[in-house]
Amino acid sequence: MQICRDKGAMRDWRSPGGRVALVPTMGALHDGHLSLVAHARRWLDTQGGGRVVTSIFVNPTQFGPNEDLATYPRDEENDIALLEQAGCDAVFLPTVADIYRPGAQTVVEVTDLSRMLMGRLRPGHFRGVATVVTKLFNIVRPDAAAFGEKDYQQLAVIRQMVADLDMPVEILPVPTVREADGLAMSSRNRRLSPGERAAAPVLNRALDQAQRMVAEGAGLSATRAALRRIIGAEPLADIRSIDIRDAATLSRIAMIQAPVVILLAVRFGDVLLIDQRVAHPKGAPDVR
Ligand code: PAF
Repeated sequence: MQICRDKGAMRDWRSPGGRVALVPTMGALHDGHLSLVAHARRWLDTQGGGRVVTSIFVNPTQFGPNEDLATYPRDEENDIALLEQAGCDAVFLPTVADIYRPGAQTVVEVTDLSRMLMGRLRPGHFRGVATVVTKLFNIVRPDAAAFGEKDYQQLAVIRQMVADLDMPVEILPVPTVREADGLAMSSRNRRLSPGERAAAPVLNRALDQAQRMVAEGAGLSATRAALRRIIGAEPLADIRSIDIRDAATLSRIAMIQAPVVILLAVRFGDVLLIDQRVAHPKGAPDVR
């Protein structure tokens, strides 16, 4: 596996041509990330082959001033070993100075989608994501890029950006990978105390229940109340937001008539966890 530590090395690796699929990450890799790599590989196989590159870059511009940039887990040696085992062809490990040159003035912002939901809890977050993903796309010039469905709003923002700006990159959505007890895999899980880790699967239990209720015809307020009741019963869970939105557009809904996405943001100690589930009322078509 080729290790590219700056833009120049990355561009040299890219230059022979052929198809390339990118897996953008912030490192501290787990099975969820490796499933993105496997997905990227499968996509390349359907296209006649190519190379997979994973980027590892803890992007400072997507963290707010009181967020966990300094404590975000970093484990470069282990990440490289995992990517080698997963059969990744290259890893891009740029420094902050390499990505953000002094005096840079340009940002990319997907306006409406970035300001709702998580964008209200984390102002500027999606502008940082859209800007760095654009830069990664410009440096790597991938044919496709894989993103996890766990970060549902991020995926929506990236899809909108790619469509709006005519970026020639196919976006590959990848289902959430869960621990045996249902907790969605996330690099932040390693910052949970043992008690918080034991409490966190309540998110998946609440989503399971809400999904069943929607399938059986429950309305918005009953579903929301059930989510609040189940998560609220866990003393270590501090609910930051519970939203039920149109699964295709993320817009607000007055009633559940089409597929919805249930979005949770819940703190355990100082760790903010998110999780999501698409739920289909009886007879509703699929969202994709
Ligand atoms: O999902 C992430 O890990 C990050 O938001 C991403 C897409 C790598 C951009 O920094």
